[in-house]
Amino acid sequence: MSKKIKKLRNFNSLLRSVNQKLTMEIIQRKAAENKLKTAYQQLSDIIEFLPDATFVIDKNRTIIAWNKAIEEMTGVKKAEMVGKSDYAYAVTLFGQDRPLLMDMAMNPEKEIEPQYNFIKRINGIIYAEVFVSSLYSGKGAYIWIKAQPLFDSEKNIVGAVESIRDITARKEAEAILQRDKDSFENLTKERTKQLLEVQKKLADAKHLSEIGSLAATVAHELRNPLAAIRTAAYNISKKSSSPRLKSHLSNIEKKVLESNQIINNLLSYSRIKVPHFEEVKICKILEECIDAAKDRYYKWDVKLTKKLLCRKNDIINADPYQMRELFNNLLNNGYESFLEKKGKLVIFAQYQSPPGFFTASFSDNGIGISPGDLKKLAEPFFTTKSKGTGLGLTVCQQLVRLHEGKLDFQSEIGKGTQVTVTLPIERKPA
Ligand SMILES: Nc1ncnc2c1ncn2[C@@H]1O[C@H](COP(=O)(O)OP(=O)(O)OP(=O)(O)O)[C@@H](O)[C@H]1O
Ligand SMILES: [Mg+2]
Repeated sequence: MSKKIKKLRNFNSLLRSVNQKLTMEIIQRKAAENKLKTAYQQLSDIIEFLPDATFVIDKNRTIIAWNKAIEEMTGVKKAEMVGKSDYAYAVTLFGQDRPLLMDMAMNPEKEIEPQYNFIKRINGIIYAEVFVSSLYSGKGAYIWIKAQPLFDSEKNIVGAVESIRDITARKEAEAILQRDKDSFENLTKERTKQLLEVQKKLADAKHLSEIGSLAATVAHELRNPLAAIRTAAYNISKKSSSPRLKSHLSNIEKKVLESNQIINNLLSYSRIKVPHFEEVKICKILEECIDAAKDRYYKWDVKLTKKLLCRKNDIINADPYQMRELFNNLLNNGYESFLEKKGKLVIFAQYQSPPGFFTASFSDNGIGISPGDLKKLAEPFFTTKSKGTGLGLTVCQQLVRLHEGKLDFQSEIGKGTQVTVTLPIERKPA
């Protein structure tokens, strides 16, 4: 009996000690559980507190955290999301059930999805940038996303966390900055170009006005003595009956007239004014100039052909006097290209609206111009003629420029020259 009692007692004390151990273990486990709960709560609070939209999934892709910021971004509450799986977060965020960055983060072997504007994997963390039109109740937002896997103490992947930052304001500011930078650069380029053009025009104008005022002064000073010479020659011829003397005097008069012509050229050059624009029947003016040129050179053996494709009332905005001056100079040059006073001159004009231009070409089969001389044509006083002033084309170039048109030359030595004038029908508004 006492043996039995002893055995029972021993068993009882064993039971007690096991019981004690179990109670201790339960207490410890409870404490550990509480610790875990506290840690979990703290972690949840931290995630909740984060300013960036953040959510966490476990390894089965079930959502275990969905913070305040992502609630605001998506408009979907935490209570609706926590516990959901099967890419529910992708549907809420992108409207599509497809793997997200965090899925790629959990699976390092997985190919990076191409639907992001920018995506990079650095040391296991994936960064991406994308515009999502459904966010903020359809307002849309540019977002910067960062996702990384979560590990347990044995380095096994147990889930993933994804954090999303709204960078719309920054993106918009960048776009505005870029736009401003581009338009500023374009404006600077445009202004620099305009400045350079004005600078060139100013330099040209200064150069021409200096030459112009010199030419005007010289021409003016020469006019009076020439007039005196002419009167004196006339008076002498009246008083003399000697034919030899008369012939000398008539020679003097001829030279005086030639000199006067040169003076007139100089004066017309120095007096180029701002055009007085009016509606002019340009073909009519050209026709009158052609007729006047034929009269001037009536003794020359020149076959002049004209083809003027204008209707009766075709008009352009121009200064009629300056147009005459332009055509007369070009016609004179055409005639003067025939050293033997013999040749062919073709004048072709066309009124084209659209494109809104009047063109006139003057083609001769005269001596032609060398490539070297072609470059010097508009230089003041460039001439190859013994009696030329070399101002005709300088004047033409100026007049055409004042009318916002252009002059083109094509020439071959021994074959002839073609000069083409292009003038706009309407003036550009200032
Ligand atoms: N149709 C042409 N054929 C050949 N050479 C030409 C023609 N037109 C112009 N030239 C050349 O260009 C030069 C300059 O012409 P520009 O009309 O400016 O002066 P110019 O005719 O010599 O003198 P002017 O001041 O009397 O007109 C001429 O001297 C001539 O060498
Ligand atoms: Mg000339």
